[in-house]
Amino acid sequence: MRILIVDDEARMAESIRDYFQPEGLESDLAFNGLQARRKLEENAYDALVSDLRMPGMDGMQLLRWVREEGPDLPVIMISAHGDIRDAVEAMREGAYDYLVKPFDPDELLLKVRKAVENRRLRLSVAAGMAGKAKDEMIGESLAIREVDRILAKASPTGATILITGESGTGKEVAARVSHRYSRREGPFVPINMGAFPEQLLESELFGYEKGAFTGADNRKQGLFESAQGGSLFLDEIAELPLHLQVKLLRVIQERKVQRLGSLKGTPVDLRLVTATNRDLEKEVKAGRFREDLYYRINVIRIQIPPLRERPEDIPLLAGAFLARVSGTMGRKAMELGDDAVRFLMRYDFPGNVRELENAIERACILSDGDTLRARDFEFLKGGKKAVQEREGQHRPESAKAEVYGIGESLEELERKAILAALERNAYHRERTAEELGITRRTLLNKIKAYGLETGSETEQA
Ligand SMILES: Nc1ncnc2c1ncn2[C@@H]1O[C@H](COP(=O)(O)OP(=O)(O)OP(=O)(O)O)[C@@H](O)[C@H]1O
Ligand SMILES: [Mg+2]
Repeated sequence: MRILIVDDEARMAESIRDYFQPEGLESDLAFNGLQARRKLEENAYDALVSDLRMPGMDGMQLLRWVREEGPDLPVIMISAHGDIRDAVEAMREGAYDYLVKPFDPDELLLKVRKAVENRRLRLSVAAGMAGKAKDEMIGESLAIREVDRILAKASPTGATILITGESGTGKEVAARVSHRYSRREGPFVPINMGAFPEQLLESELFGYEKGAFTGADNRKQGLFESAQGGSLFLDEIAELPLHLQVKLLRVIQERKVQRLGSLKGTPVDLRLVTATNRDLEKEVKAGRFREDLYYRINVIRIQIPPLRERPEDIPLLAGAFLARVSGTMGRKAMELGDDAVRFLMRYDFPGNVRELENAIERACILSDGDTLRARDFEFLKGGKKAVQEREGQHRPESAKAEVYGIGESLEELERKAILAALERNAYHRERTAEELGITRRTLLNKIKAYGLETGSETEQA
C-alpha cells in the first residue's frame, strides 16, 4: 500500500509516516498542495491523506483537483478542531472520510485501510461484473454509503423498509442489497404493483384455493407464502388499489395470509420491502393511499438521491457497466478515457443510473477503439435528446435483449443495432444518425459496409 500524506506541518506528516511504516504502509510526503499534485501526477497511490488548511493550494482545492483528474483515489481529510464544517464540506465534495485533530493514529490507520480495501473490492467488482447478480450497490458518495449503512443496520432486524427515489436511481438494487444483509434463508421475491390488473394482482399476492373463482382449477400459493422466511419486495407500492391496501395491512398486522376462497389464514414470516417513485404523503392527502398502511410501511425510510446529485458515483458506475458490457459482447476490456469521465460527470442524467447504463452500452457498441471518448457520448447532449431518451426508456431495454447475444461478433451486434435504429426511424438517415449519436457520414459508411441500404428511399436532399 502506498499512501501520500500532505501537511504543511512537516512534523505531523512525518509522524504519520513513522506510524504507518511498521504497519506495512509506505508513505510519500508533500508539504503543500502543489507539491502533492506533482507527486500524484508522477506516482500511483492507493490513498491520499491531506490536511485541510494549508497555505497556497489548500486541502479542499487539492481534493477538487483529485476528483477531476483521478476520480478513483480515496481521500481522507484531516481538519483542525473548529474546522468541522469544512470537513463536512469536503465529504460533500467527495472525500472518503475525515478526522479532527488531535486524533488517534490508529483511527487514521483504520480509515486508510478501509478506504483502500473498499476501492480494491470495487475494482474487482467492476472487473467481475459480467453476469453478476444485481445485489451490489456501486457508489462511494456520501449518500450511497449512508444508504448502505442504514440497509446494513436495518435489514437484519426485519423492520419494514420503504425505498423512495426517482426512476432509475437503484431502488430495486437497494431492495436486493437489503435482502442480502437480512441474512435470511428464504428467497427474495419481487413483484411490481403496477404491472398487473387488479384481480390478477390479488390472486398473485394471496394465492387461491381450487374453485375460488372461475378458472381456479388448482390451488395456488401466493407470493406472500412464496416469500416465507425471506423478503417480499412490493415495487411501485403507490399503484396498489385501495381494497388491496386494506388486505395488505391485515397481513402485516396479523402476520397471516388468507388464500382466496379459504377461511383460514396461514402464518407468514417475511420481511417487507416496498418502493415508489411517487410522493406517498401526497397520495395519502389525495385519498389514494391509506394513511394507516403508510405508517406501517414507512418504518425505515431510504431515499436514494438522483444521480445528478452524486456525480462522484459516475466514474465507478460507468467503469462497472463498461466491464459488464464489454464482457457480454465478448470484447476485450475497454477503458473510459478521462475526457469521457469528465463529460459524463457533467451530464445531468434525467434517467439516472439506468440512463447511464444504457449510454455505456450504446457507446460501447458504436465505438471503434478500445477507449471510450467524450465524443462517443455525444448523443447525450442537449435536454431534448435527454427527454426522448427518458421517454423511450423501454425501447432501448427491449432492444437490448434483441441486440446482445453471447458469442456474436461485434460487427454482428453493431449491424443489428444500426438496422434496428434504421427501422425505428423509417430509414430516415439524419434521424437514425442522431439517435445513434454518430455523424451522418459514419452512418452512410456503415450502411454500405453492412449492406443495409434498401433502395434509394427516404434519403434527404
Ligand atoms: N448503485 C448501483 N450500482 C449498480 N447498479 C445500479 C445501481 N443503481 C442502479 N443500478 C442499475 O441501474 C438500473 C436501474 O436500477 P433499478 O432498477 O434498481 O432502479 P429503480 O429505482 O428501481 O427504477 P424504477 O423506478 O424505474 O423501477 C438497473 O440496471 C440497476 O442494476
Ligand atoms: Mg424499480
